[in-house]
Amino acid sequence: MQPQELYSKLRSVRNGTVLCQYSMENCEKLTVLINEINELKKEKDAVILAHSYVAPEITFGVADYSGDSYQLSKNAMETPAQTIIFAAVEFMGETAKILNPGKRVLVPGANLGCSLAESITGQQVKKLREQYKEHSFACYINTTAEVKAQCDVCVTSSNVVKIISKIPNDKIVFLPDKLMGENLKTELEKAGVKKELVLHTGTCYVHEQYDPDLVKYFRMQNEGLRIVSHPECHPDVAKQSDFVGSTSQMLDYVSKLPEEAPILLLTECGLSARLQAEFPNRQFIGSCSLCKYMKSNSLENILQTLKEPLKAKEIKLDPLVLNAAKLCIENMFKYGG
Ligand code: 13P
Ligand code: SF4
Repeated sequence: MQPQELYSKLRSVRNGTVLCQYSMENCEKLTVLINEINELKKEKDAVILAHSYVAPEITFGVADYSGDSYQLSKNAMETPAQTIIFAAVEFMGETAKILNPGKRVLVPGANLGCSLAESITGQQVKKLREQYKEHSFACYINTTAEVKAQCDVCVTSSNVVKIISKIPNDKIVFLPDKLMGENLKTELEKAGVKKELVLHTGTCYVHEQYDPDLVKYFRMQNEGLRIVSHPECHPDVAKQSDFVGSTSQMLDYVSKLPEEAPILLLTECGLSARLQAEFPNRQFIGSCSLCKYMKSNSLENILQTLKEPLKAKEIKLDPLVLNAAKLCIENMFKYGG
């Protein structure tokens, strides 16, 4: 890749943070790393999957696939490459390993947590199952393999309403995202689907920050504004939104908007940057929020992981946990496919 090529892709990115602004000089430095990674990738038969929240130089420089957690799970399941480098967070790397256990799965980031995945353990779910014996257990994909191993079905932000509606049990424990659970209740009610939902207390520290009053203010100040949010946002934010969906669904929605419509994106800066790069004539207003976990992926640690992976970067799972979690994810494809 030539620096000019990268610069022409990234020059429209203006997220207001230094992390997300690109000069020609910056692109010259980045393309040295990008070209080295792309060479090594071929040599080592590796594929790079990147969530849309990672830095734009990863998305546009080295990723073979970029998308939401549902799409990337499918890419991980179907890839013929021997090694999967997952530039995202640990639970996504675990999901790739569960779906394609014969592959080596490596997660390059330096801080791969997720406030949702950390909000509940497999042991806690085990206890809840004793308390809610008649309930089916549905978990968001943003959970550890241990949690998935204790649940009946997994969902992502792109299929949560569809899957919960289809579960053949009216009593469901949905975990761990409380805000997504509340948004889910609203959507089920709108669709006339009756389910008794028990929720947990987890939240995404990035999306819970969006303030409903501030959203109201943006609406007042901008005629014709389209508010586009993620279902991890507060219900009072979701209710004011023109569209609520997964990161890939948000991208698709924005791609179909008239060019003159101002857009307020309520999600992580990586997606805002991706949209600014892909739709340079759209008018994005407001600022985005950073996820410290997604942003701990860098070209430097991807290169290091390709060259000489640290032991801690390889996903290893207990076979019992892997097989139980696999059933939970396979049920997602069964109900949502
Ligand atoms: P998506 O599946 O919509 O990409 O969401 C993943 C995530 O972590 C959002 O915070
Ligand atoms: Fe987790 Fe929120 Fe980061 Fe997504 S944005 S990975 S839910 S902490």
